[in-house]
Amino acid sequence: MDFKDKCVLVTGASRGIGKATALAFAAKGAKVGINFRSRIGEAEKTLAELPGSGHQLFKRDVSVKEEAKALIDDFIDAYGKIDVLVNNAGIAISHKVDEIDFEDWTSAWEKTLQTNLFAPAHLCYLAAHHMIKAGSGSIVNVSSRGAFRGEPDQPAYGASKAGLNALSQSLAKKLAPHHIHVGVVAPGFTETDMATETLTASENEKMLQETPFHRMAKPEEVAHAILFLSSEESAYFSGTIIDVNGASYLRS
Ligand SMILES: NC(=O)c1ccc[n+]([C@@H]2O[C@H](COP(=O)([O-])OP(=O)(O)OC[C@H]3O[C@@H](n4cnc5c(N)ncnc54)[C@H](OP(=O)(O)O)[C@@H]3O)[C@@H](O)[C@H]2O)c1
Repeated sequence: MDFKDKCVLVTGASRGIGKATALAFAAKGAKVGINFRSRIGEAEKTLAELPGSGHQLFKRDVSVKEEAKALIDDFIDAYGKIDVLVNNAGIAISHKVDEIDFEDWTSAWEKTLQTNLFAPAHLCYLAAHHMIKAGSGSIVNVSSRGAFRGEPDQPAYGASKAGLNALSQSLAKKLAPHHIHVGVVAPGFTETDMATETLTASENEKMLQETPFHRMAKPEEVAHAILFLSSEESAYFSGTIIDVNGASYLRS
């Protein structure tokens, strides 16, 4: 896989899976746009670690539609094109149906869907218009195992990722005639802040028992699948959802 001279936008790339993805693209010769929401220090550290040149930071909250539009506009101003879009930014909020009040319930749904589903939908729309003009491109959306197996404590998260799968597969069909391919990577627990900050000790133990590997995924393993689906050689994989969950949840 060679991404030399490719311009790649990764949302939520200041840390975690997005950071590993930015590093992997840069190592293959791409110019990488690192989007993040607020943690400027982490974003600057990531930028400094990327091999190669031409990488830039883009501080935008993608859950706000005006900022999503500005992100794509800024990226095109900087690079003149967008070859690859990786919709990685995501949030997970605990909102247990039998414990919280209605106000908190509705707030969790709104925040989660705005970040995990509406933002990728809007960014796909905006990037696709540039890719259609260019005659090629690829989009990879980062979903989750939770889309398939259920998320009892984070139902909006599971629903947002199931929606993201459906969005991706719809666009895979619609955009194929324009030589744009769309793929999905669905990780299980991965060694990032999202997983380590939310798991209690007993949940961590349960997680380790779920997979015969007895460990979480490494962000680099998820990034590997993202690069594979983004590559020109993988165009015919469009519509595919790749599980990266250490055989913890095998769907038929
Ligand atoms: N970790 C897991 O176990 C796991 C499992 C399955 C799926 N996933 C999915 O993988 C993706 C990455 O997860 P992660 O674990 O790497 O997350 P993470 O460590 O919590 O990092 C989240 C990243 O997204 C950015 N972000 C969050 N909301 C944003 C917004 N509104 N606009 C722009 N950037 C935003 C954050 O920016 P700041 O640094 O500025 O806050 C950060 O760069 C997510 O879609 C997640 O659902 C993760």
